[in-house]
Amino acid sequence: MKALCWHGKNDIRCDTVPDPKIENPRDAIIKVTACAICGSDLHLYNGIMPGMMNGDVLGHETMGEVVELGSEVTNLKVGDRVVVPFTISCGQCFFCKKGLFSGCERSNPSPNRKVAEELWGHSPAGLFGYTHLLGGYAGGQAEYLRVPYADVGPIKVPSTLTDEQVLFLSDIFPTGYMGADMCEIQPGDTIAVWGCGPVGQFAIRSAFLLGAERVIAIDTVPERLQMARDGGAVTLDFGKDDIYDSLQEMTSGRGPDACIDAVGTEASVTASADSVLDRVKQAAMLGTDRPHVLRQAITNCRNGGIVSIVGIYGGLLDKVPMGSAINRGLTFRMAQTPVQRYLRPLLERIEKGEIDPSFVITHSGKLEDGPDLYRVFRDKQDECIKVVLKP
Ligand SMILES: NC(=O)c1ccc[n+]([C@@H]2O[C@H](COP(=O)([O-])OP(=O)(O)OC[C@H]3O[C@@H](n4cnc5c(N)ncnc54)[C@H](O)[C@@H]3O)[C@@H](O)[C@H]2O)c1
Ligand SMILES: [Zn+2]
Ligand SMILES: [Zn+2]
Repeated sequence: MKALCWHGKNDIRCDTVPDPKIENPRDAIIKVTACAICGSDLHLYNGIMPGMMNGDVLGHETMGEVVELGSEVTNLKVGDRVVVPFTISCGQCFFCKKGLFSGCERSNPSPNRKVAEELWGHSPAGLFGYTHLLGGYAGGQAEYLRVPYADVGPIKVPSTLTDEQVLFLSDIFPTGYMGADMCEIQPGDTIAVWGCGPVGQFAIRSAFLLGAERVIAIDTVPERLQMARDGGAVTLDFGKDDIYDSLQEMTSGRGPDACIDAVGTEASVTASADSVLDRVKQAAMLGTDRPHVLRQAITNCRNGGIVSIVGIYGGLLDKVPMGSAINRGLTFRMAQTPVQRYLRPLLERIEKGEIDPSFVITHSGKLEDGPDLYRVFRDKQDECIKVVLKP
């Protein structure tokens, strides 16, 4: 089959690789009808996530048609149309039973698990197409995907909805929604969202779905700011506006009730002096991440407010203003999204017409176009916001 494979920093190719096979009785094989490129894939493309190996099949936002089932999968039938969550979860362990599917203690088996434990203290769940630290599973930017624990993850979707309307249930809709959900939004709340990439766009719309009075969205890319405004947000441009002063002014000097970091470790290098310094520290191996946005989210948040982190960080963050956080009583919430928890309620919202997730798509192509579209998406060329590939 054809698949997008990682061959090193800036080197993704559309290769021919062996078709996946059923390996366990709880597996399914799906024929992929649509998949997407995520901001998280850019951390792999940019070579900043450890644990990738030459030839790894990428992709964790995938849907398709079930073509083969292991003997223990009884809730699906060949021919079912399903969306596959990016988190691989057994459904039966201590964490899955608590609904913390992204903490599944079975889906990242040793030896990968050991490496994750050494780095992070404990291992999270395995993910599709996302480094050997997290299971080394082949991803879904491919013609076929093996889905482990297929009796737990995939959700059947109705034929009345298009692939474009349901594909993002696999990741960015639940992730943006979780970002807003973690803000515990009360009537009258102002929510600030850093990053108007695909995840930020869903955080903005979800904050309104959950009752926010006002959303202030921050980025510098004009078409992304425009899409945020189309979603009802007021916007700030970090290339032009002083973010702290502007947010103060807009919130009677208190700060937003909650701040969502939908940027993560690849914050713009030129946004500020501390961002430049983070880049220098990265190059000199003195720091792993660029937490400029996290610092801003903390210092801007109102006393007693919530900092909700969905942008991804990898390692040890330097100069995170804990003094500001503890003295002012902030709450930190964060997670790799336990996607399975959000699938059904968010599918219902799509079915009711409360949101049509396809609004975020700007580019589509075939798998062969993948390598080019990775670059276009990363470099924000051609007003690209979200890419969907149809094998
Ligand atoms: N928690 C999860 O489970 C989960 C799931 C999916 C994605 N993510 C993460 O969410 C983040 C965003 O993903 P995406 O697909 O939207 O990526 P993206 O790269 O398309 O978007 C990031 C946006 O942040 C903006 N930005 C950069 N520096 C900024 C700054 N200083 N202030 C404000 N905005 C700034 C960029 O211009 C860009 O528009 C990534 O870190 C990704 O890994 C997390
Ligand atoms: Zn993703
Ligand atoms: Zn589990």
